[in-house]
Amino acid sequence: MQVAIDGPASAGKSTVAKLIAQKLNFIYIDTGAMYRACTIIAQKHGIDYSNEAEILKAVEAEGIEFQTVNNEQRVYVGKQDVSQEIRTPEISANVSQVSALAGIRAKMVDLQRQMAGKMDVVMDGRDIGTTVLPNAQVKIFLIASAYSRAKRRMLDFKERGIKNSQTIEEIEADITARDYKDSHRKISPLRKAASAIEIDTTNMTIAQVVDAILAEIKKSQKKLEKRG
Ligand code: CDP
Ligand code: CDP
Repeated sequence: MQVAIDGPASAGKSTVAKLIAQKLNFIYIDTGAMYRACTIIAQKHGIDYSNEAEILKAVEAEGIEFQTVNNEQRVYVGKQDVSQEIRTPEISANVSQVSALAGIRAKMVDLQRQMAGKMDVVMDGRDIGTTVLPNAQVKIFLIASAYSRAKRRMLDFKERGIKNSQTIEEIEADITARDYKDSHRKISPLRKAASAIEIDTTNMTIAQVVDAILAEIKKSQKKLEKRG
């Protein structure tokens, strides 16, 4: 079973994807963290965010790994845990430039498909239902108003202990700009897959979103059982 969850920034994708994976004992893959890791590698090596060849070389040399520590997914670049650092506004402001590079996307999509392998998986991102896992049995597209997403992001910074000096309005402007770039890039832009179910989470709690997606997964599992 493959569950693809796509949508704009801060729509709640990773939060609900993680909970669903825990409930169903599926593996969870946060593809955004991979593009953020590429961006931090470029930053650490002082490579221009448009220099695809150099970023790719540095990504190959450092490696990007996920590990589960105390029930939490951590991201490592080389031996270093960068899980916090990849969420800073600076990385958020530059990740869309790096994620638009064809070579970076090809490498990440390849890794994502390898990770999905033959296991049951919940994967969240921007192009999972359209490009990475086009045969996913369940495709979800999460949306919410830009203001509510900015409010959530602000709270998220507090909860994760990430230093933030931006106002809600500034965060809203940043995520709107990022969504624009992600939706307008040439290669696999942020787009709802034809068969995806759209859920507007503006006025929904996390538990409600999780339940709605679990119901879709159950429906799909029943269909598969019937087909034998
Ligand atoms: O958590 P948030 O929604 O802010 O972003 P994210 O999921 O961590 O993704 C960060 C960035 O990575 C996005 O703005 C995209 O530029 C890129 N991304 C992508 O291009 N394709 C994906 N499948 C996932 C993320
Ligand atoms: O992965 P994505 O960027 O789409 O969003 P996220 O990081 O999962 O969610 C951003 C923040 O919104 C988290 O702090 C969630 O707890 C919160 N959230 C919420 O308040 N209500 C929801 N229905 C979903 C997420």
